[in-house]
Amino acid sequence: MSDLLRFDASKYETRTLTLEGRTIRYRAWEGINYCERPKNSIQKLNIYVPEDYYEGAKLHGYDLDTVPIFMPNTVGGYMEGPAMKPGVDHFNGRPNAAFEALFHGYVVACAGIRGRNTGRTSNEFFVGGDTASNSENGSLVGRAPAFIVDMKAAIRYLRHNQSLVSGDPDHIITNGTSAGGALSALTGASGNCADYEPYLQEIGAAEERDDIFAASCYCPIHNLEHADAAYEWLFHDETTCHRMRLEKTGAGVSMVPVTTEMDQKRKAVSEDLKKLFPSYVNSLGLSDQDGNALTLDEDGEGSFRDYVAKKIIASAQKELVTHSSAAKRGLVVPGSEVEKQTSLTINNGCVIGLDWPLYVKTITRMKNAPAFDDIALKSPECEEFGDEKVFARHFTSYSQEHSDVPAELADAKIVRMMNPTSFLEKESSHTAADAPLSTVAPHWRIRHGAFDRDTSLAIPVILALLLEKQGKDVDFFLPWDLPHSGDYDLDELFAWIDGICR
Ligand code: DHB
Repeated sequence: MSDLLRFDASKYETRTLTLEGRTIRYRAWEGINYCERPKNSIQKLNIYVPEDYYEGAKLHGYDLDTVPIFMPNTVGGYMEGPAMKPGVDHFNGRPNAAFEALFHGYVVACAGIRGRNTGRTSNEFFVGGDTASNSENGSLVGRAPAFIVDMKAAIRYLRHNQSLVSGDPDHIITNGTSAGGALSALTGASGNCADYEPYLQEIGAAEERDDIFAASCYCPIHNLEHADAAYEWLFHDETTCHRMRLEKTGAGVSMVPVTTEMDQKRKAVSEDLKKLFPSYVNSLGLSDQDGNALTLDEDGEGSFRDYVAKKIIASAQKELVTHSSAAKRGLVVPGSEVEKQTSLTINNGCVIGLDWPLYVKTITRMKNAPAFDDIALKSPECEEFGDEKVFARHFTSYSQEHSDVPAELADAKIVRMMNPTSFLEKESSHTAADAPLSTVAPHWRIRHGAFDRDTSLAIPVILALLLEKQGKDVDFFLPWDLPHSGDYDLDELFAWIDGICR
């Protein structure tokens, strides 16, 4: 074993942390190099283990060898995500996932991940994120596919040191929100895929497996090459964009509401993109749990839309019975109370119908068209597909052809390496034989708020359906009331993890 990648078990500190009246005692190893040739100082790993295990305790039936390894990331907006430390979540002010996971008794391994802002200063802030605002050295070494390369390298490091690090490397569970949720999904879908090998070798990652046991994904902003069409399929009739600009300030996160009317050009783009969606959905060969085909007609209507509506109705129904959303870390969207929804037909305590256009109007459009591959090349995603030489690129042929600015198209292979669904489309007609080979995680938990408009509801639904088609265990739900957010139901997440690990 290379000395540079050998874990030094003796280099820890024992720490105590109390938040909200709850105390954790844990061993902390911080700032570990998880690869031999890091390109940036963000590429560090923190490992935390509950102290009780060293005193012989069993927690939830686990011991030091059998306890799952929980890997939360702090990536948001495709920005870099510094290795999480147990503490407070910057967005919701509550104990973060690392704290809660330690409190629950897991080993917590937090990898620092490069992102599109690595090498330059930025005060942008995204939900789920914790950008470090790196120094401005101009080396944009965090662009695609760096984020997944780093996560794989960290997982390989854990496997490489499995006799020295506590926890069960066969029970690694990744967790993230939004772009971090996409990272978790991509980690789950792309295990051991050879396409990443040159990038892993470049940073000196250990030669080990990098597949995982389970992926927890909150509102994953993924499948970027189809997300623009999916967005217009949902929001085409809405022409006002309501968004919040989030910025990290010394005092916390500031939120500035911004409203924009779509102009004629963008409305025409929306019209075009909407038309692209049915053929994509129909190419996937999706079916529901009873084997009924899920498709769309030219107008975007059909069994796939009915299926999404059923998921929304199931969400509303659960809320009607449990009224549990309010407890979700104070995040609920104002005016989203289930009883007040004119889009829902409720009869005798049962949600029996959904007025689709009214529902879409209620949750409101957030983004202009195209939602991701911006024709002005200004979106986070266009930056993500840039590199050290070219600041931003398109990643869909539509936006490339309709670009307002001279622009390159990203390498199709890199676009595919960033998309978890590209590993799941083996039997679909549009990727057919060239779907890359990978080890897909057996267990998935996907959550996307029913009031989240950062990406189309179709996007997480497609992910879940493709996984189910592969026979994977998928726990999918659209929690009512919730906007773009994550980590709001960690107790439920941990109960799910315990269920699959025991
Ligand atoms: C995130 C949100 C977005 O709307 C987006 O386009 C990309 C990333 C995020 O919160 O991480």
